[in-house]
Amino acid sequence: MNISISIRQATKEDLPEITALFRSTIINTCSKDYSEKQINVWASAANDTDTWIERINDYYFIVAEQNSLIVGFAYLKKGYYLDGLFVHQDYQRQGIASALLRTIESRVMIEEFPEIRSDVSKTALPFFEAWDYTTIKKQKKSFKGMGFENYIVTKTL
Ligand SMILES: CC(C)(COP(=O)(O)OP(=O)(O)OC[C@H]1O[C@@H](n2cnc3c(N)ncnc32)[C@H](O)[C@@H]1OP(=O)(O)O)[C@@H](O)C(=O)NCCC(=O)NCCS
Repeated sequence: MNISISIRQATKEDLPEITALFRSTIINTCSKDYSEKQINVWASAANDTDTWIERINDYYFIVAEQNSLIVGFAYLKKGYYLDGLFVHQDYQRQGIASALLRTIESRVMIEEFPEIRSDVSKTALPFFEAWDYTTIKKQKKSFKGMGFENYIVTKTL
């Protein structure tokens, strides 16, 4: 069932909520697809405060809110590259990622890029397939010395 949310651009004040959501979604939602070691390394990226501030300042970074609680976020790099999409562990399958993705895709179209691209986790792949993204390649991406299986996906807009 879809819930009522509003979408706005993130600010630096959102940092603690964004990083807490990132950490808990990885620990609770992605743990079915990755090992405990991988989850710990991935979730530890929540502590890279400078990187998150840069993303908020430099990218098109949006949050979905319900009753002033951030229930999801997404950010777009270079105008066409979706670099992150996360939904609060307690708000999965309620249409929040779909609403965020619609906003992100609109932005890509407004900036006149012909396609959107991303590399997405095993956890997120079914969501992108439901949105008609095509998998170009399965790959192993290295992060903090650990390999993570993920998928490069794209969609013509
Ligand atoms: C992937 C993710 C963003 C999806 O968020 P969501 O808000 O639950 O997605 P939606 O409710 O908008 O899903 C829309 C449709 O996508 C498909 N879908 C979403 N999650 C799915 C899943 N786990 N399995 C199968 N299909 C799925 C379904 O068709 C769904 O429609 P339905 O619920 O009516 O069946 C969320 O599960 C998440 O935060 N995952 C962990 C973080 C992550 O891996 N992010 C990607 C890193 S870049």
